[in-house]
Amino acid sequence: ASHPLVVFTPSGKRGRFPVGTPVLTAARQLGVDLDSVCGGRGICSKCQITPSYGEFSKHGVTVADDALTEWNKVEQRYKDKRGLIDGRRLGCQAQVQGDVVIDVPPESQVHRQVVRKRAEARDITMNPSTRLYYVEVEEPDMHKPTGDMERLIEALDAQWDLKGVKTDLHILSVLQPALRKGGWKVTVAVHLGDENHPPKIMHIWPGFYEGSIYGLAVDLGSTTIAAHLCDLKTGEVVASSGIMNPQIRFGEDLMSRVSYSMMNKGGDQEMTRAVREGMNALFTQIAAEAEIDKALIVDAVFVCNPVMHHLFLGIDPFELGQAPFALATSNALALRAVELDLNIHPAARVYLLPCIAGHVGADAAAVALSEAPDKSEDLVLVVDVGTNAEILLGNKDKVLACSSPTGPAFEGAQISSGQRAAPGAIERVEINPETKEPRFRVIGSDIWSDEDGFAAAVATTGITGICGSGIIEAIAEMRMAGLLDASGLIGSAEQTGTTRCIQDGRTNAYLLWDGSVEGGPTITVTNPDIRAIQMAKAALYSGARLLMDKFGIDTVDRVVLAGAFGAHISAKHAMVLGMIPDCVLDKVTSAGNAAGTGARIALLNTKARSEIEATVQQIEKIETAVEPRFQEHFVNASAIPNSAEPFPILNS
Ligand code: FES
Repeated sequence: ASHPLVVFTPSGKRGRFPVGTPVLTAARQLGVDLDSVCGGRGICSKCQITPSYGEFSKHGVTVADDALTEWNKVEQRYKDKRGLIDGRRLGCQAQVQGDVVIDVPPESQVHRQVVRKRAEARDITMNPSTRLYYVEVEEPDMHKPTGDMERLIEALDAQWDLKGVKTDLHILSVLQPALRKGGWKVTVAVHLGDENHPPKIMHIWPGFYEGSIYGLAVDLGSTTIAAHLCDLKTGEVVASSGIMNPQIRFGEDLMSRVSYSMMNKGGDQEMTRAVREGMNALFTQIAAEAEIDKALIVDAVFVCNPVMHHLFLGIDPFELGQAPFALATSNALALRAVELDLNIHPAARVYLLPCIAGHVGADAAAVALSEAPDKSEDLVLVVDVGTNAEILLGNKDKVLACSSPTGPAFEGAQISSGQRAAPGAIERVEINPETKEPRFRVIGSDIWSDEDGFAAAVATTGITGICGSGIIEAIAEMRMAGLLDASGLIGSAEQTGTTRCIQDGRTNAYLLWDGSVEGGPTITVTNPDIRAIQMAKAALYSGARLLMDKFGIDTVDRVVLAGAFGAHISAKHAMVLGMIPDCVLDKVTSAGNAAGTGARIALLNTKARSEIEATVQQIEKIETAVEPRFQEHFVNASAIPNSAEPFPILNS
């Protein structure tokens, strides 16, 4: 008979193979993405496949046949020892017997997709920098004197087609015991390198190594440092953790840190040390949480703004404090962890995304990677809201970027009762337009302040202050309830008809929570609070508006709010304030920590690294500081929602 037809799903790749061909061999010849760590020895179970029945079953014996034959002994052994999901077969053991359709489940694909939480975001395709390989190495022979390492490298070439593999001293020193302990079978972690770097052995284990290797995706912010620990085999996030950036003691915001380094000799080095120490503490914490050895972390990707970028690398950020805001380098950087004093695997790699411009950092590049405005059909405005707002506007034809100094007010700083988002902080506010009475919700409880059980619900945390999203909602609600005019002035008790508007020096304040009557601190929204938010939102809006001018458009199709804080802003309130341009409300979405997601994409898929490097080259940078239009927009944008721009969609 002719050779049976073998069809793989979901790829659709097909070909004819002699009876008895192992499925893994057929897959390789057809270029089907089927994983294998042990090289077809029936040990790793990475090659699992599901034979589809369908009409193919009538063609006689297929790989789906449950009766295990002689050649399935290895597979049977595997099944007995570790079990195999019903209907699953080991692709390296199952052989073609007749026409078949074979499904490769996602877990068995090297380039599998890591599913993200939000439906609209792109999936992550696995293509990590470092992979595990199981090899059988030839034993030494007095008549053919070669070193153990040379035979290991030969085996990697012969069994895995890995060419020109190199190694470091730290591997040589553990190689011989590992080979002998494993009976000349070892698992190695190989960093695959790129055009400029040969593949390199990172780690070696005797026998078949069951465990995983890990990578870190780190979002180095001026206020917090957040890290995700990812399994480089599966792409899963196994632990997430964050700490405050220890550089805060040198200055709350970026510019105060730049001036710290200008005023203090060696100040930049102090800050470099602080952030690296903080980083190591965070890595210890995250590894402990995941219960893994830190030395199994072989790769790390960092995203950060330009000042953090320079200070982390040990570069004085002086030039970033003044025009023309020259970066030491805007390129992406591939480094070794030891160069940055990072205490993970001794040969671990580090990748920093490229910076877009002197004010628009690798964090914005990461947002671009995650939200892909350059692939969008419609015109999208992406704002990453933090101490600095990173703003991207564009579609598949063109993307513009700028950064705008919003300051820390959105994070609750500079607000009289402000605090960071933490249990006890007021995060949601509503004001009844008739009675002018407020109701609110506190982080850590989902009971509104006017509902039964509120006191009990906040008994443990108390009410401690108001966070960024709370103050935004409070001010927007005050505006809608007529307590506040468009210029941001709070009316008096007589003007507004409520005793909640109290006199506060020469201006008025709105009493949200009266501690003297109700317990806890008294929480008011004051005119200086409103001023601070007006400044911040005007900076954000003018940055966005400037990009819209440059693009030559008046409206955007959709808005994506990114950043940890962006996740909590209510679109409606943001628009009432005039933080973001007028847009259909349900076209305003939140992307969560998009910079962190971008870091994770670059960690798990090395192809995405060259992709974003190319994209960043195409992004047009706009420097807000030197644009006269920015000032003009800024003045108009301090009104609520805006003195010059109409908000027709909002008003309808
Ligand atoms: Fe490892 Fe099949 S390839 S078990």
